[in-house]
Amino acid sequence: MTDTTDEIETDESAEIEEPAPPPGVPITVNGEVFYAAPGRNLIDACEDAGVYVPRFCYHPRMTPVGMCRMCLIEVDTGRGPALTPSCMLTVSDGMVVETETEAVKKAQDGVLELLLINHPLDCPVCDKGGECPLQDQTMSYGPGESRFVEEKRHFEKPIPISDTVYLDRERCILCDRCTRFAAEVAGDPLIHFMGRGNQTEVNTFPDDPFSSYFSGNTVQICPVGALTAKPYRFKARPWDLSEVASTYPNAMGDRITIQSSRNEVLRYLGVDSDAVNWGWLTDRDRFSFEATMSEQRLTAPLMRGDGLGNVDDGGDELVATTWAVALQRLVTALEDADNNAGPESVAVLGGAQLTNEGQYAWARFAKGVIGTDSIDAQMGDGLPADIVASMPRTTISQACAKGGTIVLLSGDPKEELGSLYLRLRHAVVHDGATLIELTPNETGLTKHAAHSVRVRPGEVASVAAALVTGTGGDELAAASAAITGADSVSVICGRTSLADNASLTVDAINTFASLDTVRFLPALRRSNVHGAIDLGLTPGMLPGRTSLDAARAAFTAAWGSVPAKAGRDTAGILADAAAGKIAVLFLLGADPLADFPDPELAKAALDGAGLVISIDPFVNESAAYGADIVMPAAAFGEVDGSHTNLEGRITPLRQKVTPPGTARPDWMIAAELAMRLGKDMGFASVADITNEIAAVSPMHANADAAAIDAASDGVLVSGGPAWTDQGAPTPAPAYDRYSFRLVVDRTMYDGGTQTTMCPSIAELSKPGAVRISSTEASKLGVRDGAIVRISSQRASVEGPVVIDDRVASGIAAVAHNHVGLDIRSLIDMNELVTDVRIETV
Ligand code: SF4
Ligand code: SF4
Ligand code: FES
Repeated sequence: MTDTTDEIETDESAEIEEPAPPPGVPITVNGEVFYAAPGRNLIDACEDAGVYVPRFCYHPRMTPVGMCRMCLIEVDTGRGPALTPSCMLTVSDGMVVETETEAVKKAQDGVLELLLINHPLDCPVCDKGGECPLQDQTMSYGPGESRFVEEKRHFEKPIPISDTVYLDRERCILCDRCTRFAAEVAGDPLIHFMGRGNQTEVNTFPDDPFSSYFSGNTVQICPVGALTAKPYRFKARPWDLSEVASTYPNAMGDRITIQSSRNEVLRYLGVDSDAVNWGWLTDRDRFSFEATMSEQRLTAPLMRGDGLGNVDDGGDELVATTWAVALQRLVTALEDADNNAGPESVAVLGGAQLTNEGQYAWARFAKGVIGTDSIDAQMGDGLPADIVASMPRTTISQACAKGGTIVLLSGDPKEELGSLYLRLRHAVVHDGATLIELTPNETGLTKHAAHSVRVRPGEVASVAAALVTGTGGDELAAASAAITGADSVSVICGRTSLADNASLTVDAINTFASLDTVRFLPALRRSNVHGAIDLGLTPGMLPGRTSLDAARAAFTAAWGSVPAKAGRDTAGILADAAAGKIAVLFLLGADPLADFPDPELAKAALDGAGLVISIDPFVNESAAYGADIVMPAAAFGEVDGSHTNLEGRITPLRQKVTPPGTARPDWMIAAELAMRLGKDMGFASVADITNEIAAVSPMHANADAAAIDAASDGVLVSGGPAWTDQGAPTPAPAYDRYSFRLVVDRTMYDGGTQTTMCPSIAELSKPGAVRISSTEASKLGVRDGAIVRISSQRASVEGPVVIDDRVASGIAAVAHNHVGLDIRSLIDMNELVTDVRIETV
């Protein structure tokens, strides 16, 4: 054996680099030394070291409470080993931990025996069976048999504690997870422990059900089968399910798994993405698989006429046809439009529901193949796309950082973006963030706001200016100091009302953008609207948050051609369609009759357009009223692709089941149409499109298909033109004290497909009403429920009053898209604000 030591040459003069010390402090777990951050919870530190400690009550997103004692382990901190609940202890230097000693095993055995004393023998019929920590841990750590021969306690089972959740009290192990979630995370403390000793139970108070937008999360985190979700109960066993990780298509891009059995989606579960939703979902999103599985899904193309392409035969009904006939009729219409009136006579509305790949395929089809720039995904309730593209952005985690400063300049996140609300709430309630709220009415966060400023529509820019310049007088002085004195400020910005002009919000954003410390998180609510803006599904822009003019040369090279000039937005398209200038109007998952702020204009557009094609999973209101062709689109869970959230985070979205009938992914319809027009885009798969996006858009260069798949928290893209000063704000019209300023806001459960097509939550959509404060109601002399006439300069409608003291004085608030009161006819979209009178009838 050769000793090579002598052969090693050493350079005495070279500095010998000491290896960097491992991060954290040393702890010994079952005889091995690991390093952990001081202060890290011991149960997590053990898991980091590859040692799993059984637990029931501990949840990493909630305060530890040490309720169940299942995590008892032996810990020696210098005073000798002692049995300690590991979820209640944090790491300290030199800790010695044993998780497998006789004492630990005896403790685990005892805890399980105690928990099982009153636990029913329900496993064969229990929804949790097969994925139950109590079942699993009893097998792994528990006693072999029970010594308990007495009668177990019994409760009525199950009892509904909300519209979507059942409680089986016998199975509850009193772990305090659901109660902590309700109080600590959701801020809806409606589920409690009651009774004492052997009779302790979890329950709601009789007249106070667990009506929380987030109740389904308790079902997911309950470690036993005590809480079950109505839509999933008795539907499947865990071993029947297969799953895929995906992204829920809301503007937050919540990470989820889709679980299905026999080609039927049965459950969505939240995934704990540190960057995004922390595992939480709203009930509306969690249970929306019912819409995907709805029997009302469109399974084949429909066409007015006889279904064979003969439009003059067979009347005015939509009848089933084939893809070949529907596509051919459409191709003929597109060719005629091009020959007769030019490419700008074709327009596309919608597309926010599509995947990034669907959006890119349609942007390229419209702009590169047809040659029209009149394509708009925002449907009149967003912010100008160039403003969104150029605002300096922050991320959710930066906005919610400990001790940060947040300005809320948007609709109520609790109603519109539920998981963002939970993140913001956590930041403010638990992490010391300062919230300054500039909203017309109270929001779900008002009670936690350091400064809550009620801002009437039209006044937001002047209030923002007063805050930024410190000229707001005593009332705004503290809020102003909080903003101007902060190292960084995150402004959550969106539309607070559909009844006022987006330019008012832009004016306020412009004011905040004058501070170097400010970054924005655009709170647009439509599902993949950020993907739509980033991928050019908006007039005047091309993929990569770039303007048509700036990227003309690059995209002419990539696509062959691009439109000569910027096209029309939603309002412009509808106005031109109403005037007979649109020969072919695509509704891409769009329902302007139900959704656009001016339904009369939408109706006139559907009447005036030459050929209307709806591409949608359902026959929506606009399609039923005015589409000539309806093509069935594959829905979420049926398509592969990717999604962009409000931060610019791109995450994968996966197919789990096959679409019903002959429904197809949206990108395929664009690709097929291009091919039939003799301009093949060359897309054979979703990955082709993802990779083309990465190739043509510099900001997506790191987001090719492989990169999106590989990144655990997605790929964060950024870029876009630099922010430019938007000039002086437009002064708002004077407020007339006899009038109310109208606010049209959004609610969690409205009359949209996502609610109405889901039987479990459809009933939660309340009838429409005008909400005013009790002070205003008494001035008017109206009682709760009274019918009133609401009139603007444009029209009058009648509807019931609801007295709601979260509405500020001088404001009349109406939720958009609720049965019984459609206020949209009162709004003139050319006006900055809408003032209304309210009279008793
Ligand atoms: Fe069995 Fe678990 Fe259900 Fe209890 S909660 S009955 S242990 S499956
Ligand atoms: Fe824990 Fe479930 Fe009981 Fe709630 S119902 S306390 S989550 S076991
Ligand atoms: Fe530690 Fe319950 S998990 S006491």
